[in-house]
Amino acid sequence: MEISLRFDKIYNRMEKKMYQKPKGTRDILPDISPKWQKMESVARELAKQFGYAEIRTPMFEDTSLFLRSVGESSDIVSKEMYTFEDKGGRSLTLRPEGTAGVIRAFVENGLYNNALPQKMFYIGSNFRYENPQAGRYREHAQFGAESFGIDTPWGEVEAIDFAITYLKKLGVKEVELHINSIGCPECRAKYNQALKEFAEKYTDKLCEDCKRRAKTNPLRMLDCKNPECQKIYTKAPKLADYLCEDCKTHFAEVQKRLKENGVKFIVDPQLVRGFDYYTKTVFEFTCLNIDGAGKSLAVGGGGRYNNLVEEIGGKPTSCVGFGMGLDRLVMILPEQQPEGVDAYLMNAGSVEIDKIYPVAHKLRDAGLNIECNLINRSFKSQFNFANKINAKYVCILGDEDLKNGVWTVKNLATGEENKVKESELVGVLKK
Ligand code: HAM
Repeated sequence: MEISLRFDKIYNRMEKKMYQKPKGTRDILPDISPKWQKMESVARELAKQFGYAEIRTPMFEDTSLFLRSVGESSDIVSKEMYTFEDKGGRSLTLRPEGTAGVIRAFVENGLYNNALPQKMFYIGSNFRYENPQAGRYREHAQFGAESFGIDTPWGEVEAIDFAITYLKKLGVKEVELHINSIGCPECRAKYNQALKEFAEKYTDKLCEDCKRRAKTNPLRMLDCKNPECQKIYTKAPKLADYLCEDCKTHFAEVQKRLKENGVKFIVDPQLVRGFDYYTKTVFEFTCLNIDGAGKSLAVGGGGRYNNLVEEIGGKPTSCVGFGMGLDRLVMILPEQQPEGVDAYLMNAGSVEIDKIYPVAHKLRDAGLNIECNLINRSFKSQFNFANKINAKYVCILGDEDLKNGVWTVKNLATGEENKVKESELVGVLKK
């Protein structure tokens, strides 16, 4: 009752207006969708080759799932989540990233009882209340991949191999891979203490967010986008000096195996990534010189997270994964040709649409891409339309054709024209 009254108020205030999409969202129009289809089909094809099965999880989850996984002090949770209360009083959040939901599904469905390793991929939207700009949106899509049960450095090697192969297959050039190790909770606790002590010396120079981060989760200070803070952090203690033996050995082994497999990378001590769930290796892919003027763009990132499954109620399971930002990749991808129309079916003279539509149906059944005149257009404008949509052939049914049981088939590229029996249309159009 209360809600419908509220809607009444909105309707009363409404004039006839032009609607605009919500800030930070985009329409993917038909001219650009071939690029999206390409990104999605290559992802599916490679997922099969690398042994990843598809998983689809809800677009929204219990808010506390993200607090526990992504971390309360991360920018994503503290500033960027779309959180709402549903009519049952539950706090729900539009997923800001894909990993947490996949892990929740893995635990809730008891998948850890099945044979390990298991590998899953997903393609879907995420929602973050960020300041929109080119390549940063409030709704963005990711192709993500997560593996369960691989505790050796080969987990990182295969995930990185998968991601690089994906970028290569899409024709993305000049990609730089940055890697780092952020250690396990034990080494990180020591590092956090050192960072906290470091921050105390600069309290008056740090931004308000960093002052808060220094108290709640010092590692998050390194994510700060404020250049003044970043300048200070170049002098901060290095995480590498605080890694325990196990984390150090693991990271050295990751590097050794990457090198052996011809993967180039840069060890980047500043790379910490903005999520609390990572342990040990983190990595990020940056495309260089995307505009020919030196601009670079982070197109994907990921890492190992060995404690998350247990943290949200499952058995301890080592995981590694990555997410590729499709809205960013689409900016780099070369133009893709849409799949063409094999033939456009036209009616001429006194022949009506009811004589051509059933043939369109049959040809589509045979696997052809067919457009058919559905409106009462003149012969000439049907022809113009066939040219506009780049049809390979036009198939015309005029009065004489109808009488003789044939179609006039014209190849629009060569101009060649033939009379073809209806039963032979499929063979001719498939040639
Ligand atoms: P992320 O680095 O936050 O990682 O996102 C992955 C990629 O998504 C980024 O590199 C970027 O290309 C794209 N992206 C992120 N935010 C936006 C935005 N607002 N607009 C456009 N593109 C964006 C994750 O989300 C982790 N879940 C990745 C992962 C999977 N780690 C382990 N498994």
